[in-house]
Amino acid sequence: MPYPSHVSHANVHKNFPVLFSTEQIAERTAEIGRQIDADFAGQSVVLVGVLKGAAMFLADLSRSITIDCTFDFVAVSSYGKGQRTSGAVKLIKDLDQPIEGKNIIIVEDILDTGLTLAFLRKLLLQHKPKALKIAALLDKPSRRLEKIDADYTGFVIPNHFVIGYGMDYAERFRNVPDIRLMPPDFPE
Ligand code: IMP
Ligand code: MG
Repeated sequence: MPYPSHVSHANVHKNFPVLFSTEQIAERTAEIGRQIDADFAGQSVVLVGVLKGAAMFLADLSRSITIDCTFDFVAVSSYGKGQRTSGAVKLIKDLDQPIEGKNIIIVEDILDTGLTLAFLRKLLLQHKPKALKIAALLDKPSRRLEKIDADYTGFVIPNHFVIGYGMDYAERFRNVPDIRLMPPDFPE
């Protein structure tokens, strides 16, 4: 079944194998929420979402957190159109609020090469937060170029490109509710 004849059809992603179901994502996200609640009991946190991929994870994670919590968002240059990184990370949208003295949790969809989160961690640390943690829904440790780990990890996965639950291929498929494996032969 060649992809080119299907790419513009609705539900083309239904052919992509499911890696994590909506139930698995919800369960793991709730666990991370409880962990954040416990780690910051009696305090408040600022969830800093990395646009656009982390939008769904931040929305769901924040609803599993019961401690005092606010949102902020940053945007960085991303993968471009394909499945490969350009290597360069650039800030496109800065924080709206000062974070000095605050508990910050960077919320990211995937920790891949680590270039994005290493860049953001360095940048946010310059603002002297009280604490700086990283929550990444997915972790591909085999792809790491920068030495960086998440404090809260949803799932560790092998080196395979995924889409759905906020994650894109050339900006598509962010709205797919579960997480699916991207077929390597899918056209750009
Ligand atoms: P890193 O800088 O290489 O760690 O890349 C992090 C960013 O690359 C993530 O925020 C994603 O936007 C993107 N990315 C990495 N792997 C995937 C994937 O499998 N699917 C979709 N986006 C990905
Ligand atoms: Mg992306």
